[in-house]
Amino acid sequence: MKTSRLLPDPDGLAAASRLLTESQLVAFPTETVYGLGADARSGSAVAAIYEAKGRPSFNPLIVHVGDLALAKEIGEWSDAADRLAQAFWPGPLTLVLPLRAKGIVSELVTAGLPSVAVRMPAHPTAQALLRGFGGPVAAPSANPSGRISSTSADHVMDGLSGRIAAVVDDGECPVGVESTIIGLTDAPRLLRPGGLPSEAIRAALGTELASATNDITAPGQLSSHYAPGASVRLNAHASKPGEVHLGFGPIAGDLSLSPSGDLHEAAANLFGHLHKLDAMNKPIAVAPVPENGLGLAINDRLRRAAAPRN
Ligand code: TXA
Ligand code: MG
Repeated sequence: MKTSRLLPDPDGLAAASRLLTESQLVAFPTETVYGLGADARSGSAVAAIYEAKGRPSFNPLIVHVGDLALAKEIGEWSDAADRLAQAFWPGPLTLVLPLRAKGIVSELVTAGLPSVAVRMPAHPTAQALLRGFGGPVAAPSANPSGRISSTSADHVMDGLSGRIAAVVDDGECPVGVESTIIGLTDAPRLLRPGGLPSEAIRAALGTELASATNDITAPGQLSSHYAPGASVRLNAHASKPGEVHLGFGPIAGDLSLSPSGDLHEAAANLFGHLHKLDAMNKPIAVAPVPENGLGLAINDRLRRAAAPRN
Protein backbone atom coordinates (compact mmCIF):
# COMPACT_ATOMS: atom_id res chain seq x y z
CA MET A 1 0.00 0.00 0.00
CA LYS A 2 1.28 3.45 -0.88
CA THR A 3 0.59 6.00 1.84
CA SER A 4 -0.61 9.27 0.38
CA ARG A 5 0.16 12.60 1.93
CA LEU A 6 -2.96 14.76 1.89
CA LEU A 7 -3.15 18.52 2.25
CA PRO A 8 -5.31 19.98 5.02
CA ASP A 9 -7.53 21.71 2.43
CA PRO A 10 -11.12 20.85 1.42
CA ASP A 11 -9.98 18.35 -1.24
CA GLY A 12 -7.53 16.62 1.10
CA LEU A 13 -10.06 16.44 3.91
CA ALA A 14 -12.75 15.10 1.59
CA ALA A 15 -10.33 12.39 0.46
CA ALA A 16 -9.45 11.58 4.08
CA SER A 17 -13.11 11.38 5.02
CA ARG A 18 -13.81 9.09 2.07
CA LEU A 19 -11.00 6.75 3.12
CA LEU A 20 -12.39 6.57 6.66
CA THR A 21 -15.81 5.70 5.22
CA GLU A 22 -14.12 2.83 3.36
CA SER A 23 -12.71 1.54 6.69
CA GLN A 24 -9.19 2.64 5.74
CA LEU A 25 -6.66 4.16 8.13
CA VAL A 26 -5.88 7.87 8.00
CA ALA A 27 -3.39 9.63 10.26
CA PHE A 28 -4.34 13.21 11.11
CA PRO A 29 -2.97 16.03 13.25
CA THR A 30 -4.46 16.96 16.61
CA GLU A 31 -3.15 19.66 18.92
CA THR A 32 -1.44 16.95 21.03
CA VAL A 33 0.02 14.36 18.65
CA TYR A 34 -0.92 12.79 15.30
CA GLY A 35 -3.67 10.22 15.65
CA LEU A 36 -4.04 7.04 13.60
CA GLY A 37 -7.71 7.25 12.74
CA ALA A 38 -10.29 4.64 11.80
CA ASP A 39 -14.09 4.53 11.81
CA ALA A 40 -14.79 3.53 15.44
CA ARG A 41 -18.02 1.77 14.40
CA SER A 42 -16.17 -0.69 12.19
CA GLY A 43 -14.53 -3.63 13.93
CA SER A 44 -12.57 -4.32 10.78
CA ALA A 45 -11.23 -0.76 10.56
CA VAL A 46 -10.23 -0.82 14.24
CA ALA A 47 -8.53 -4.19 13.81
CA ALA A 48 -6.46 -2.56 11.08
CA ILE A 49 -5.18 0.01 13.63
CA TYR A 50 -3.71 -2.74 15.79
CA GLU A 51 -2.29 -4.41 12.70
CA ALA A 52 -0.61 -1.24 11.43
CA LYS A 53 0.83 -0.38 14.87
CA GLY A 54 1.93 -3.95 15.47
CA ARG A 55 0.38 -3.77 18.94
CA PRO A 56 0.73 -7.08 20.75
CA SER A 57 -2.39 -6.47 22.86
CA PHE A 58 -5.75 -4.72 22.54
CA ASN A 59 -5.57 -1.57 24.64
CA PRO A 60 -8.72 0.50 24.70
CA LEU A 61 -8.54 3.43 22.26
CA ILE A 62 -9.74 7.02 22.43
CA VAL A 63 -12.82 7.88 20.37
CA HIS A 64 -12.57 11.30 18.72
CA VAL A 65 -15.71 13.29 18.03
CA GLY A 66 -16.44 16.56 16.23
CA ASP A 67 -19.43 17.56 18.33
CA LEU A 68 -20.94 17.14 21.77
CA ALA A 69 -24.09 15.35 20.62
CA LEU A 70 -22.01 12.45 19.32
CA ALA A 71 -20.01 12.26 22.57
CA LYS A 72 -23.29 11.94 24.47
CA GLU A 73 -24.48 9.15 22.19
CA ILE A 74 -21.38 7.15 22.99
CA GLY A 75 -20.77 7.77 26.70
CA GLU A 76 -23.07 8.21 29.70
CA TRP A 77 -23.09 11.94 30.44
CA SER A 78 -22.91 13.46 33.94
CA ASP A 79 -22.57 16.82 35.70
CA ALA A 80 -18.83 16.36 35.97
CA ALA A 81 -18.60 15.50 32.27
CA ASP A 82 -20.60 18.60 31.46
CA ARG A 83 -18.41 20.83 33.56
CA LEU A 84 -15.19 19.52 32.05
CA ALA A 85 -16.49 19.56 28.49
CA GLN A 86 -17.75 23.13 28.95
CA ALA A 87 -14.41 24.25 30.30
CA PHE A 88 -11.95 22.33 28.12
CA TRP A 89 -13.54 20.98 24.94
CA PRO A 90 -12.44 21.18 22.28
CA GLY A 91 -8.97 20.59 23.73
CA PRO A 92 -6.35 18.16 25.05
CA LEU A 93 -8.68 16.40 27.49
CA THR A 94 -10.06 12.86 27.24
CA LEU A 95 -13.00 11.74 29.38
CA VAL A 96 -13.52 8.09 30.28
CA LEU A 97 -17.27 7.64 30.62
CA PRO A 98 -19.54 4.67 31.29
CA LEU A 99 -20.33 3.14 27.90
CA ARG A 100 -23.95 3.70 26.90
CA ALA A 101 -25.88 0.48 26.71
CA LYS A 102 -26.66 0.96 23.05
CA GLY A 103 -23.07 1.77 22.26
CA ILE A 104 -22.26 2.58 18.70
CA VAL A 105 -18.53 1.96 18.79
CA SER A 106 -16.93 -1.42 18.12
CA GLU A 107 -16.00 -3.49 21.16
CA LEU A 108 -12.49 -3.58 19.79
CA VAL A 109 -12.29 0.15 20.60
CA THR A 110 -13.23 -0.32 24.24
CA ALA A 111 -11.40 -3.66 24.43
CA GLY A 112 -14.60 -5.07 25.88
CA LEU A 113 -14.62 -2.63 28.84
CA PRO A 114 -17.86 -1.12 30.14
CA SER A 115 -16.33 2.36 29.73
CA VAL A 116 -15.21 4.44 26.77
CA ALA A 117 -12.64 7.21 26.32
CA VAL A 118 -13.95 10.22 24.36
CA ARG A 119 -12.17 13.36 23.22
CA MET A 120 -12.99 16.41 21.12
CA PRO A 121 -9.73 17.77 19.73
CA ALA A 122 -9.23 21.48 19.14
CA HIS A 123 -6.92 21.32 16.12
CA PRO A 124 -8.82 22.96 13.23
CA THR A 125 -7.79 20.23 10.80
CA ALA A 126 -8.92 17.48 13.20
CA GLN A 127 -12.19 19.33 13.74
CA ALA A 128 -12.79 19.76 10.01
CA LEU A 129 -12.07 16.09 9.38
CA LEU A 130 -14.27 14.84 12.23
CA ARG A 131 -17.16 17.13 11.29
CA GLY A 132 -16.87 16.24 7.62
CA PHE A 133 -16.77 12.53 8.39
CA GLY A 134 -19.64 12.88 10.85
CA GLY A 135 -18.91 9.71 12.83
CA PRO A 136 -16.70 8.64 15.75
CA VAL A 137 -13.02 8.12 14.93
CA ALA A 138 -10.87 5.78 17.02
CA ALA A 139 -7.31 7.09 17.08
CA PRO A 140 -4.31 6.05 19.12
CA SER A 141 -1.09 7.96 18.61
CA ALA A 142 0.18 7.39 15.07
CA ASN A 143 3.35 5.46 15.81
CA PRO A 144 4.35 1.80 15.71
CA SER A 145 3.81 0.06 19.04
CA GLY A 146 6.59 0.82 21.51
CA ARG A 147 7.90 3.81 19.57
CA ILE A 148 7.47 7.45 20.49
CA SER A 149 4.40 9.38 19.43
CA SER A 150 4.40 11.34 16.18
CA THR A 151 4.20 15.12 16.29
CA SER A 152 4.66 15.66 12.54
CA ALA A 153 3.55 13.96 9.34
CA ASP A 154 7.20 13.06 8.72
CA HIS A 155 7.26 11.09 11.99
CA VAL A 156 4.08 9.32 10.89
CA MET A 157 5.62 8.45 7.51
CA ASP A 158 8.85 7.23 9.15
CA GLY A 159 6.92 4.77 11.28
CA LEU A 160 3.86 3.81 9.28
CA SER A 161 4.50 4.51 5.59
CA GLY A 162 3.16 1.63 3.51
CA ARG A 163 0.92 0.44 6.34
CA ILE A 164 -1.80 3.11 6.25
CA ALA A 165 -3.82 4.71 3.46
CA ALA A 166 -2.96 8.34 4.12
CA VAL A 167 -1.68 11.04 6.42
CA VAL A 168 -3.13 14.54 6.48
CA ASP A 169 -0.03 16.73 6.69
CA ASP A 170 -0.56 19.90 8.68
CA GLY A 171 2.88 20.43 10.14
CA GLU A 172 3.79 20.13 13.79
CA CYS A 173 1.43 19.50 16.69
CA PRO A 174 1.37 22.52 19.01
CA VAL A 175 1.01 20.65 22.34
CA GLY A 176 3.24 17.69 21.59
CA VAL A 177 2.17 15.43 24.45
CA GLU A 178 -0.96 13.31 24.61
CA SER A 179 -4.22 14.46 26.15
CA THR A 180 -4.88 14.35 29.87
CA ILE A 181 -7.24 11.46 30.66
CA ILE A 182 -9.84 11.85 33.42
CA GLY A 183 -11.90 8.86 34.51
CA LEU A 184 -15.53 9.67 35.29
CA THR A 185 -16.88 6.19 35.90
CA ASP A 186 -16.85 6.96 39.63
CA ALA A 187 -15.16 9.85 41.47
CA PRO A 188 -13.18 11.98 38.99
CA ARG A 189 -9.74 10.42 38.66
CA LEU A 190 -6.57 11.37 36.85
CA LEU A 191 -5.78 8.35 34.65
CA ARG A 192 -3.02 9.92 32.56
CA PRO A 193 -1.33 13.28 32.98
CA GLY A 194 -1.12 15.09 29.65
CA GLY A 195 -1.49 18.29 27.72
CA LEU A 196 -4.03 19.84 30.09
CA PRO A 197 -2.65 20.50 33.60
CA SER A 198 -4.56 18.67 36.31
CA GLU A 199 -4.68 21.86 38.43
CA ALA A 200 -6.97 23.42 35.82
CA ILE A 201 -9.19 20.35 35.95
CA ARG A 202 -9.38 20.41 39.74
CA ALA A 203 -10.32 24.09 39.61
CA ALA A 204 -13.09 23.50 37.08
CA LEU A 205 -14.52 20.61 39.09
CA GLY A 206 -14.11 22.32 42.44
CA THR A 207 -12.95 19.01 43.92
CA GLU A 208 -9.75 17.06 44.32
CA LEU A 209 -9.07 14.35 41.79
CA ALA A 210 -8.97 10.81 43.12
CA SER A 211 -5.43 9.52 43.27
CA ALA A 212 -3.89 8.45 40.00
CA THR A 213 -4.00 4.74 39.57
CA ASN A 214 -3.24 2.89 36.41
CA ASP A 215 -5.62 0.10 37.35
CA ILE A 216 -7.57 -0.02 34.23
CA THR A 217 -4.65 0.36 31.89
CA ALA A 218 -2.41 -2.12 33.68
CA PRO A 219 -2.66 -5.46 31.92
CA GLY A 220 -2.98 -7.58 35.04
CA GLN A 221 -5.77 -5.46 36.43
CA LEU A 222 -7.66 -5.42 33.22
CA SER A 223 -8.05 -9.17 33.10
CA SER A 224 -11.12 -9.42 35.30
CA HIS A 225 -12.98 -6.96 33.06
CA TYR A 226 -12.45 -9.15 30.06
CA ALA A 227 -13.23 -12.43 31.73
CA PRO A 228 -16.47 -14.09 30.67
CA GLY A 229 -18.58 -15.57 33.44
CA ALA A 230 -17.82 -19.09 32.28
CA SER A 231 -14.42 -20.76 32.31
CA VAL A 232 -12.29 -20.52 29.20
CA ARG A 233 -10.07 -23.32 27.84
CA LEU A 234 -7.49 -22.47 25.18
CA ASN A 235 -5.94 -24.39 22.28
CA ALA A 236 -8.96 -26.66 22.08
CA HIS A 237 -9.01 -28.62 18.84
CA ALA A 238 -12.37 -30.09 19.82
CA SER A 239 -14.96 -29.28 22.47
CA LYS A 240 -15.77 -31.51 25.42
CA PRO A 241 -19.36 -32.37 26.34
CA GLY A 242 -21.11 -29.31 27.77
CA GLU A 243 -18.67 -26.80 26.29
CA VAL A 244 -19.36 -24.27 23.56
CA HIS A 245 -16.55 -24.03 21.04
CA LEU A 246 -15.12 -20.85 19.54
CA GLY A 247 -13.60 -21.85 16.22
CA PHE A 248 -10.89 -20.45 13.99
CA GLY A 249 -9.86 -21.50 10.48
CA PRO A 250 -10.25 -25.24 9.89
CA ILE A 251 -11.80 -25.74 13.34
CA ALA A 252 -15.37 -24.59 12.81
CA GLY A 253 -16.66 -24.75 16.39
CA ASP A 254 -20.13 -23.46 17.29
CA LEU A 255 -19.17 -19.96 16.24
CA SER A 256 -16.01 -19.08 14.31
CA LEU A 257 -13.70 -16.10 14.77
CA SER A 258 -12.85 -16.49 11.08
CA PRO A 259 -13.74 -19.54 9.00
CA SER A 260 -11.01 -18.63 6.49
CA GLY A 261 -8.37 -18.20 9.21
CA ASP A 262 -8.05 -14.45 8.66
CA LEU A 263 -6.57 -12.85 11.81
CA HIS A 264 -7.94 -9.44 10.90
CA GLU A 265 -11.48 -10.80 10.73
CA ALA A 266 -10.87 -12.76 13.94
CA ALA A 267 -9.82 -9.61 15.80
CA ALA A 268 -12.91 -7.76 14.62
CA ASN A 269 -15.11 -10.63 15.86
CA LEU A 270 -13.30 -11.43 19.11
CA PHE A 271 -15.18 -9.49 21.77
CA GLY A 272 -18.59 -9.83 20.14
CA HIS A 273 -18.21 -13.60 19.83
CA LEU A 274 -16.98 -13.97 23.43
CA HIS A 275 -20.06 -12.08 24.60
CA LYS A 276 -22.35 -14.31 22.54
CA LEU A 277 -20.81 -17.49 23.89
CA ASP A 278 -20.74 -16.12 27.43
CA ALA A 279 -24.50 -15.53 27.22
CA MET A 280 -24.90 -19.30 26.76
CA ASN A 281 -23.57 -19.88 30.30
CA LYS A 282 -21.40 -22.82 29.37
CA PRO A 283 -17.64 -23.34 29.60
CA ILE A 284 -15.96 -21.96 26.50
CA ALA A 285 -13.37 -23.91 24.52
CA VAL A 286 -11.29 -21.87 22.08
CA ALA A 287 -9.54 -23.21 18.97
CA PRO A 288 -5.82 -22.42 18.59
CA VAL A 289 -5.04 -19.03 17.05
CA PRO A 290 -1.60 -18.56 15.45
CA GLU A 291 0.93 -16.44 17.36
CA ASN A 292 1.73 -13.97 14.62
CA GLY A 293 0.46 -10.58 13.48
CA LEU A 294 -2.88 -9.78 15.11
CA GLY A 295 -2.81 -13.29 16.57
CA LEU A 296 -0.49 -11.96 19.30
CA ALA A 297 -3.11 -9.50 20.50
CA ILE A 298 -5.93 -12.02 20.12
CA ASN A 299 -4.04 -14.61 22.16
CA ASP A 300 -3.08 -12.02 24.79
CA ARG A 301 -6.75 -11.23 25.29
CA LEU A 302 -7.78 -14.90 25.25
CA ARG A 303 -5.12 -15.77 27.86
CA ARG A 304 -6.53 -13.07 30.13
CA ALA A 305 -10.04 -14.39 29.60
CA ALA A 306 -8.76 -17.85 30.55
CA ALA A 307 -6.65 -16.74 33.53
CA PRO A 308 -7.67 -18.11 36.95
CA ARG A 309 -10.21 -15.85 38.64
CA ASN A 310 -9.76 -14.37 42.06
O1 TXA B 1 -3.69 13.06 22.75
C1 TXA B 1 -4.18 11.93 22.67
O2 TXA B 1 -4.93 11.49 23.53
C2 TXA B 1 -3.83 11.12 21.41
C3 TXA B 1 -4.41 11.85 20.21
C4 TXA B 1 -4.24 11.08 18.93
O3 TXA B 1 -5.76 12.13 20.44
N1 TXA B 1 -4.34 9.78 21.49
C5 TXA B 1 -3.80 8.84 22.35
O4 TXA B 1 -4.35 7.59 22.24
O5 TXA B 1 -2.91 9.07 23.12
P1 TXA B 1 -3.67 6.25 22.80
O6 TXA B 1 -4.46 5.11 22.20
O7 TXA B 1 -2.22 6.23 22.52
O8 TXA B 1 -3.95 6.29 24.32
C6 TXA B 1 -5.16 5.83 24.81
C7 TXA B 1 -5.13 5.83 26.29
C8 TXA B 1 -4.49 4.57 26.83
O9 TXA B 1 -3.63 4.89 27.91
C9 TXA B 1 -5.69 3.79 27.29
O10 TXA B 1 -5.39 2.89 28.26
C10 TXA B 1 -6.62 4.89 27.74
O11 TXA B 1 -6.45 5.88 26.78
N2 TXA B 1 -8.04 4.44 27.71
C11 TXA B 1 -8.81 4.28 26.63
N3 TXA B 1 -10.02 3.81 26.96
C12 TXA B 1 -10.02 3.67 28.30
C13 TXA B 1 -10.97 3.22 29.25
N4 TXA B 1 -12.18 2.79 28.89
N5 TXA B 1 -10.61 3.23 30.54
C14 TXA B 1 -9.39 3.66 30.92
N6 TXA B 1 -8.44 4.08 30.07
C15 TXA B 1 -8.74 4.09 28.77
MG1 MG C 1 0.31 6.09 22.39
